[in-house]
Amino acid sequence: MPVKFNKIITTDYAVSSPKIGRAFDGFTFAYLADLHDVCVGENNSLILENLKNRRPDAILLGGDMITERKHGVHATECRHALDLVIRLAELAPVYYSIGNHEARWMDPERIHTESYEDYKNALEAAGVRFLDNRSVKLHKGADMIRITGLSLPLRYFGVRHETLDTQIVHLLAKDPDPDHFQILLAHSPTHHAAYDVWGADLTLSGHYHGGQVRLPLIGGVISTGWTLFPKYDMGMYALKNGKLIVSAGLGTHTIPLRINNPPEAVYITLRNAQDGNACI
Ligand SMILES: [Fe+2]
Repeated sequence: MPVKFNKIITTDYAVSSPKIGRAFDGFTFAYLADLHDVCVGENNSLILENLKNRRPDAILLGGDMITERKHGVHATECRHALDLVIRLAELAPVYYSIGNHEARWMDPERIHTESYEDYKNALEAAGVRFLDNRSVKLHKGADMIRITGLSLPLRYFGVRHETLDTQIVHLLAKDPDPDHFQILLAHSPTHHAAYDVWGADLTLSGHYHGGQVRLPLIGGVISTGWTLFPKYDMGMYALKNGKLIVSAGLGTHTIPLRINNPPEAVYITLRNAQDGNACI
């Protein structure tokens, strides 16, 4: 029986910057992460209804849409993710950046029962664009914003993870253009300082599942990497240069635990700000 949730919450953020041209003023992204192949409503109907009602201009996926359990991902273990993402692609352009579970699935040193390439090919056939250490430029009139998906090697996840610093430069072939708004899809918020130094105006993360159990006034209790009371568990945070938005995500894996922490759909509306700082 698949894990199923019967509620979804919507969180709205507005991000403004002089780098966001007038043509992108009001442009709205939906941001979804950490589905882990669960269902939110029958066949993910609550997620689809939520997005149909909001009609975002584009949909960003922040990784861990499936769960890898040391044997790859069997076809029956990714069908909810496949079905949902294919149907999302009928609503708006979808840009998919991977998490640590997709990274494990595509790791050639692991034994796989199903091919990650089959999963990716099926989604690409539906029009989904994978941003696997790649970028896409969105143009409206003379204005442009850039979206980059960061695929980190597995050594940057887990309890004893390596620190990411300037190595991000080598993973992402091209640095941000300082004149254009740069969004970075980076699954784990752990390395937020490196993303900020790289030049992300807005980083979108997940991975911590909102701290799994949320307490009033305190927030998340434990991250998926077993950090107690993680600081960047859910919300929007000001970094030195840009902003970080962390979604509580949609699902669970291993221990089906989300207490006081319903699945979350995030919406981000861009605002042109001629006289502001880099981001407010
Ligand atoms: Fe994750």
